[in-house]
Amino acid sequence: MVQEIGYFELNTGAKIPSVGLGTWQAEPGVVGQAVEVAIKSGYRHIDCARAYGNEKEIGVVLKKLFDDGIVKREELFITSKLRNNDHAPEDVPVALNKTLEELQLDYVDLYLVHWPVRMKKDAVGFSPENLLPTDIPGTWKAMEALYDSGKARAIGVSNFSVKKLGDLLDVARVAPAVNQVECHPSWQQAKLREFCKSKGVHLSGYSPLGSPGTTWIKSEVLKHPVLVSTAEKLGKTPAQVALRWGLQMGHSVLPKSTTESRIKENFDVFSWFIPDDLFAKFSEIEQARLIRGTYAVHETLSQYKTLEELWDGEI
Ligand code: A2P
Repeated sequence: MVQEIGYFELNTGAKIPSVGLGTWQAEPGVVGQAVEVAIKSGYRHIDCARAYGNEKEIGVVLKKLFDDGIVKREELFITSKLRNNDHAPEDVPVALNKTLEELQLDYVDLYLVHWPVRMKKDAVGFSPENLLPTDIPGTWKAMEALYDSGKARAIGVSNFSVKKLGDLLDVARVAPAVNQVECHPSWQQAKLREFCKSKGVHLSGYSPLGSPGTTWIKSEVLKHPVLVSTAEKLGKTPAQVALRWGLQMGHSVLPKSTTESRIKENFDVFSWFIPDDLFAKFSEIEQARLIRGTYAVHETLSQYKTLEELWDGEI
């Protein structure tokens, strides 16, 4: 029997739609039409971030869709993220206000600490000289105040290892609702998935297709024989199989596309499923992290001397 898997429930009681449109590397100039196509095709979840530099254009389109009666605000689930430059507690509410202004919204449904990495407030770019040591408990207190204010209806983190998420849970008054991390068949996050489940934190998967368009990543995720053969057997594309795999694993997926046909293709993952025998094959896929966060690692200038330290061994 086909399971619809249209949404997952967060620890706040809110429902997060299981497929959201990713907007990382969706350039200004094209991101607006992508959001419009997505919402008109049935997407109800848009994953944004201040660091992507495209929230203003998304805001213009959202307003138009509301004004035209295409969708209501309360039907949408909008995520945004706190930049590394805005970790100082006094900067956190200012950063969310800026995002809300650009998105032309009164609240976001989810606001995430983008990375367990802090950079100088006015720093541009990712030079190691710009890194500062994090104070996640301090930043999180400011996130909790946003939750209390209602401007962020849920709060969470992104790119947190088991260790970093556990440390945060130990001090949090409001537990994070979500940990958004890289997740696809070639980086399944087995350990983190188990930990999140045991703590009631929803795992949300970015780069669910393995970011094939990212030039500095050698992504073979969609070419893996298990995906290709499953797709052939089911009459679907490898991208659809990767996304449906994520839903059946129990996490939401955030495929990015600015191409109309792919935006639609990526949402056609509800009326069919990967049967058990084919699904079992995914556990045999060799694992490799693609988004390594090397920008945050430096022998002398970073609190993370190695990738091991950034990811607490999960590499
Ligand atoms: P485009 O935006 O030109 O459609 P991820 O979400 O894993 O980061 O992957 C995003 C990348 O995958 C983008 O380069 C996007 O290209 C491409 N992409 C999105 N949907 C599909 C699809 N259905 N098939 C193949 N590539 C896709």
